[in-house]
Amino acid sequence: METTLVSQSLDRVEADAVVVLLFEEDGAPAELKGLTEWIGELRASGEFTGKTGELAVLHQPAGLKAKRLAVAGGGKKDKFDPAVLRRAVGTAVRALKQKGVKKLAWWLAGAGAGAEAEAAVEGAILGNFEPDRHKTSSDAKSLEAFILVAPDSARGAFERGRILGEAQNFTRELVNEPANIMTPTRLADRARTMAAEVGLQFEVLDESRMRQLGMGSLLGVSQGSAEPPAMIFLRYKPPQPPATKDHLGLVGKGVTFDTGGVSIKPADGMEKMKYDMAGGAAMLGAMRAIAQLKPAIPVTALVPAVENMVGSKAQRPGDIVTSLSGKTIEVLNTDAEGRLILVDALTYAQRLGCTHLVDAATLTGAIVVALGNVNIGVFTNNDALLARVLAAAKAEGEKSWPMPLDDDYKDLLKSAFADLANIGGRWGGAISAAYFLKEFAGDTPWVHLDIAGTAWLDESKPFLAKGPSGVAVRTFTRLALDW
Ligand code: BES
Ligand code: ZN
Ligand code: ZN
Repeated sequence: METTLVSQSLDRVEADAVVVLLFEEDGAPAELKGLTEWIGELRASGEFTGKTGELAVLHQPAGLKAKRLAVAGGGKKDKFDPAVLRRAVGTAVRALKQKGVKKLAWWLAGAGAGAEAEAAVEGAILGNFEPDRHKTSSDAKSLEAFILVAPDSARGAFERGRILGEAQNFTRELVNEPANIMTPTRLADRARTMAAEVGLQFEVLDESRMRQLGMGSLLGVSQGSAEPPAMIFLRYKPPQPPATKDHLGLVGKGVTFDTGGVSIKPADGMEKMKYDMAGGAAMLGAMRAIAQLKPAIPVTALVPAVENMVGSKAQRPGDIVTSLSGKTIEVLNTDAEGRLILVDALTYAQRLGCTHLVDAATLTGAIVVALGNVNIGVFTNNDALLARVLAAAKAEGEKSWPMPLDDDYKDLLKSAFADLANIGGRWGGAISAAYFLKEFAGDTPWVHLDIAGTAWLDESKPFLAKGPSGVAVRTFTRLALDW
């Protein structure tokens, strides 16, 4: 989809549809004065009241060049923010593209502050995404062009929104691919191609290198799969020598398929476990945006990519593995594999010189029980870094909720035969998983995002297709930009 920003009066905009946001309280902006009767009728009939999610369409609107005028609900004016706008644009895009609109204009003029231009173009790019790559014929239609009508001063923000929207869709494409296509090797290939396109340094550790280094925890997970593992790295260096000694490390769980291993998962819903690499894909998407938006801090992303399978070579419950850190782990449940691959990546990230670590992982079903599909669960060993991550998430409208991680939870991970067990029993499952990671973060400031409940939409939303959400890409990009 082509995206452009134009500064024009509403009546001159040429498009299949031009959309204007109307609030619950307002009549209509002065630019629509030729259409006040239509809008008055809509409101009087109750067909359109300005609530979020509403949309009404008029063909051949008097005095406008556009073929259609649509009004979209903006909700209550005092509740309005970029997140509301992002959704309103996404909703309009998804509704109007299905009606055959190819060229859609969004009139932002009056408002047009930077954050709004950014959110509007993001909403359009996200709303236009369809997970239909593998359908030979699909009912879903697409926009060809999105035009934002806004002041020229919004151009920088518009560009940022375009980059962020495209980065999220890049992530969503990766997550949506089935596991027979998106193997660890393919994920590394995609990262390599992307890195070359945007100018990032790419490296990958293969199985023999990992064995040499002693990544026994990760290798124990991947040993049951015919697909070789890959530890993917992307490095970003700021164009100017950085003023800070800080070095941000982004670590993302890249389990391309999680059967559970010998502690096998139930068949029902297992197909969804192709999204168990959503944390890794979010890091790759964030790095794509970071390469283009050029923050002032060096950033390294690490994506441990493996497949968790069953078979005669698979690891068994009770196996004891030695992690890169030297700590030994008793694998009491092979389905708690995400933490096993992440800890070797966290240790390696510290060896690479990362001073601050943030990880994202579809780590536990327990976080879905705790927070549903709305909030990301956030855990930390460092309140200052937590505050930074929460501020970035809030600014980007990605709901995040801090969870406890006191030392009282440590006992959950006791093992009779090794330094640590990889599971913590029935209760507080998201916390014991996070605590396991914490044991390997050491003194390095670290924040963990459990995105198991937020990385996948079981049902489509008016503004977003069913499937991968691309969650956390915006938060990590903003974290680096605001450092
Ligand atoms: N990938 C799953 C977590 C998950 C669950 C992600 C639901 C998305 C949706 C993870 O590897 C896992 O299986 N965790 C287990 C841990 C348990 C064995 C301690 C879980 O949550 O059940
Ligand atoms: Zn698992
Ligand atoms: Zn998993």
